[in-house]
Amino acid sequence: MAKPFSFEVLAIDGKARRGVIDMPRGEIRTPAFMPVGTGGTVKTMYMDQVRGVGADIILGNTYHLMLRPGAERVARLGGLHEFARWPHPILTDSGGFQVMSLSKLRKLTEKGVTFRSHIDGAPYEMSPERSIEIQGLLDSDIQMQLDECTALPAELKEIERAMELSLRWAERCKTAFGDQPGKAMFGIVQGGDNAALRVRSAQALSEMGLKGYAVGGLAVGEPQAVMLEMLDITCPELPADKPRYLMGVGTPDDILKSVARGIDMFDCVMPTRAGRHGLAYTRRGKVNLRNARHADDPRPLDEESDCPAARDYSRAYLHHLVRSQEALAAMLLTWNNLSYYQKLMQDIRAAIETQTFEARGAEITEGWARGDI
Ligand code: GUN
Repeated sequence: MAKPFSFEVLAIDGKARRGVIDMPRGEIRTPAFMPVGTGGTVKTMYMDQVRGVGADIILGNTYHLMLRPGAERVARLGGLHEFARWPHPILTDSGGFQVMSLSKLRKLTEKGVTFRSHIDGAPYEMSPERSIEIQGLLDSDIQMQLDECTALPAELKEIERAMELSLRWAERCKTAFGDQPGKAMFGIVQGGDNAALRVRSAQALSEMGLKGYAVGGLAVGEPQAVMLEMLDITCPELPADKPRYLMGVGTPDDILKSVARGIDMFDCVMPTRAGRHGLAYTRRGKVNLRNARHADDPRPLDEESDCPAARDYSRAYLHHLVRSQEALAAMLLTWNNLSYYQKLMQDIRAAIETQTFEARGAEITEGWARGDI
């Protein structure tokens, strides 16, 4: 029998954890950053490059893949790993969050959500059971419960209703997922910016005995301080021996501060999206390559990086590519950005192992503050 899904905490420094998730398709070193591969591609990147920068796992989206090319089609073609040529672990989001932000004419009931595709207006239904079925057809390794995420600011009653609904949907997803030793289904803590609701959600999910827990409903319009306060409240309520995943976060600074509060996994479109908009993440902060000051600059983004995109191309050339709207601009900058994010996670993991996380975090932050070279 294939080895079961497992999580081990290897080192602790303050509240920060260095761990490893082990599953049949491979190991995930935590804290981990998952590049976003919404529709079966990490935009502009070959999968070999995604692996090459150090990613152990990528994220896919139920919502996008069910609309196009369709989950049943992906299943017929051998599942998402084979289809996209990524043999390592894949986590899929459940669809609830994307339905709410992208689809048209959506209607949410106890049963689930009905909506129209943002691509062609075709009608769809998604229940907790159908979301898990789709994630199974994709052959996703880590599946997420269907939830309802409330945009902030919101009325307390509204946050509470969505949180309680998400708890009931977590139970239904757990039943639909059943017993699959090599895979995992994670619950999602909701509760907006309300401490009591967050505690209620985290405790009720913990009692379900799931293999991992996500914190959702954050980075949805609230200040960073509110997000961090919610993590301070939520993390201690989650089982210490299970991975914790902060959904849709964030900036390098968000990641450092969330690891410090006990988060193990992250995903965010930031490095990939920024790369398609001419922005580079570096040790010295963000660099906007569209800016005219780079037009004659022969220096690379970072001569010390082992990523060719950061090390081997001049800022002048990158500026030229961005201004000319060349496909290579997005390709090189996305490569640089994902490399930067993975290097950050590697740094974080090494610092936790040597009990130097706080000092290393301060050094990294100081590098950004010094500004571009
Ligand atoms: N991505 C970012 N935030 C969320 C959330 O609250 N729920 C889900 N399902 N996905 C997310």
